Parts: sequence; structure tokens; C-alpha cells
Amino acid sequence: MSQAYETILVEQRERVAIVTINRPDKRNALNIQTRAEGAAVLDELRGDTSVRVVVLTGAGDKAFIAGADINEFATRTAITQREVMLERSLFNAIDGFPKPIIAMVNGFCLGGGCEVALACDIRVASEKASFGQPEINLGIIPGGGGTQRLTRLVGEGKAMEMILTGEIIDAQTALAIGLVNHVVPADQLESKTLEMANRIADKSPIALRLAKEAVKLASRSNLDEGLRREVDLFALCFSSEHKDEGVKAFLEKRKPEFKGK
Ligand code: COA
Repeated sequence: MSQAYETILVEQRERVAIVTINRPDKRNALNIQTRAEGAAVLDELRGDTSVRVVVLTGAGDKAFIAGADINEFATRTAITQREVMLERSLFNAIDGFPKPIIAMVNGFCLGGGCEVALACDIRVASEKASFGQPEINLGIIPGGGGTQRLTRLVGEGKAMEMILTGEIIDAQTALAIGLVNHVVPADQLESKTLEMANRIADKSPIALRLAKEAVKLASRSNLDEGLRREVDLFALCFSSEHKDEGVKAFLEKRKPEFKGK
């Protein structure tokens, strides 16, 4: 990393970068600095061709992210709050990140923390993780995409229940409603997540980027438009050397090697 960060740790293991929100004493709550640093880290990783997949997690064994830093809400005006959220949105930085990004959820995943996980592509949770959108208990509503992304992921009924009651659900319930992809024992969380990250890192980074773009279209466009754009993105793969390598490797009965970006 070219910059020093105070609230974020970044570690690279082969082609996977592990980004850790590092405020364990505050259950990794997102303050302005953490959001800005998180977005800046992703900006750096976006251009780093040695990194193919990002894993996002929280420091310590208690929390992934326990939401926005509630202390900052105390004195904020509506205008300031709006500017803070629009100017440097960590949620948008994750959503627009071109490489695969996996949330490794190790504990409380609440409010803005749940919204961070929702903005990621895949969620792997420890059995000890718990999830919720408890904003309603503070007299507010989710503002980091929770009302939209959660609803698209789990359906209106389940999203409505979580958002209106503010209740916290355990990892198995999150799995049952489709909020997370996998639940694993706490001591296997890192190994299982990295196993998946490494498997993805072996694929063509170009195809991964185009696949992400195509899948994200599904909930953002109508079916005809989505299908049309999918064909364009599919055809675009044919301009890449990775398509040649993938097809050649299959025909030669060997593992493909996708070099470069
Ligand atoms: N914002 C600011 N500080 C937070 C925080 C948040 N979202 N979540 C936790 N913290 C702080 C606590 O204030 C406490 O700080 P202190 O030691 O200076 O008093 C510290 O983190 C530890 O929290 P604590 O409540 O003692 O830990 P716990 O393990 O008993 O409970 C939670 C953890 C996450 C259940 C509880 O802290 C909580 O409900 N947090 C708020 C969750 C929330 O409403 N998020 C949505 C915000 S929009």
C-alpha cells in the first residue's frame, strides 16, 4: 500500500488482499475516517494487478462491523449527513469495485456493517456471526443500501421484517433466508473463505470483471435489457487472450493459466 491507514489493515496473501476494518474496541463501527480509508484502500487495490480478489473482514473475534459510528449521529444536521453519505461512500466503492470482493463475517454484522456485507459479491459467515438492520431502534432507517440490496437479496417480506423489527438474526437464519452464502465453524472461517478466494483468483480477471458486471445488471435492469447487455459482455470476452487460453487449455486437457490483468 502506498498510503498509511490508521483504521484499516491490508495484508496480501498471494493474489488475495485481506482488508480488515480495525477498530475492535468499537466493534469496528464505521466512522468518517474508516469509511474514507476503506474507499481509499479499494481505490489502491483496484489498480494493483497483483491482487485479483479482495476479502473484507473486521478485526477481533466479536464483530465484522457493528454499524455506523453512532457517536457521529448525535450532532449531525440533515445536510451534513447527506453530504457525508454521498461524498465518499464506502458502500458505493464496494459496489463499484471491479474485482470479486468477499465479506468474511466473523461476528456482529449490523446496520452499516450488514450493508457493507450486502454490497460485497459473496458473504461467508462464522457460526458466531449475527446480522441485523437495527437502525429503527435509533429512530432512523438503513441508509447505506439496506432497504434496496437486502430486499433484492432476500425478498421484500424478510427484508421488511428485519428492517421494521430491527431484530438480530443468527448465522443459520441468515443462511436460510439467503443473506449469506455459507456458514462455517468460527475456527474455519478464514481457511474456507481464502480457499474460495484462491479458487476465484485462478480464473481470468477479465472474465471475472465482465461476469460481475453482467450479474449486477440482473437486479438493475429489465430482463430484455439485461439479456442484451449479457450478450455484449459475453462477446467482449472473445476479444481477450484469456478466452483463447481457456479454450486452448480445455482442448489440450490442461489447466488454464490466465496471466496479466
Ligand atoms: N457506534 C459507536 N460505537 C459502537 C457501536 C456503534 N455502532 N457499536 C459498538 N460500539 C462501541 C460501544 O459504545 C462500546 O464502546 P465503549 O467501550 O467506549 O463504551 C464498544 O463499542 C463495545 O460495545 P459493547 O456494547 O460494550 O459490546 P457488546 O459486545 O456488549 O455489544 C453490540 C455489541 C454490537 C451488540 C452493541 O455494541 C450494539 O448494539 N451496537 C450498536 C449496533 C447498532 O445499532 N448499529 C447500527 C447503527 S446505525
